[in-house]
Amino acid sequence: MRIPLIAGNWKMYKTIAETEQFFREFLPLVADSTHCEIAIAPPFTAITKAVKAARGSRVAISGQDVYWEKQGAFTGQVAAPMLAEAGCRFTIIGHSERRQYFAETDDTVNKKIRAALAAGLESIVCIGELLEQREAGQTEAVLRRQVDGGMAGLTAEQLTRIIIAYEPVWAIGTGRTATPDMAEEAHRFIRALAATRFGKEAAAGLRILYGGSVKPDNIKGLMAQPDIDGGLVGGASLDPRGFATIVNF
Ligand code: 13P
Repeated sequence: MRIPLIAGNWKMYKTIAETEQFFREFLPLVADSTHCEIAIAPPFTAITKAVKAARGSRVAISGQDVYWEKQGAFTGQVAAPMLAEAGCRFTIIGHSERRQYFAETDDTVNKKIRAALAAGLESIVCIGELLEQREAGQTEAVLRRQVDGGMAGLTAEQLTRIIIAYEPVWAIGTGRTATPDMAEEAHRFIRALAATRFGKEAAAGLRILYGGSVKPDNIKGLMAQPDIDGGLVGGASLDPRGFATIVNF
């Protein structure tokens, strides 16, 4: 049985003070939400405050990115053991914004997953096609390349600590969600692909989240799909009431 996961990716939003305020409002609204796991990925500067605020609740904290070296002269980077020490359970890896603006590749995704695994973090690995790739009928080829490259050489055992987030790039921040059927088709493809690479059992246990303009009014339809195991929510995770509505789909 796959337990749903609803994760909020705050991107470059919220100060420490705003983080504290968010948790004050959000936690009471999800205090009885035992049907799913909940995670929030704040900016690095607010992680410590978020961990402290979420202590004793069911909300886990995630990094938004991680570097693959343990330490060293890598100005601006944050290592996986540092995230773990700060109290993170997860880290997002390979978000399309990192691929687009910060030269993330499937190869760097692979290194980051390995570093996260070594530090005991679970990875939320983002994949998804651009609009022109979908229109050219390349969606499956793109997803196959991202899964094969990003997860190259990983074992079925390691897959149990990996979550995939299918985020079609054309649906991110655009208000244009994939329909539940479109999302389900991609999720089914990803699970079938995982079965050929990692075995049927590992694929059956793999959680695949949908991301891209998830809102309180479309989460129910998405979650009704058999292969959609949760959401990775951007803009709509910034508002405590709205995000709680999504969590309580
Ligand atoms: P939006 O929910 O704002 O479209 O962002 C999705 C996303 O990129 C989550 O990682």
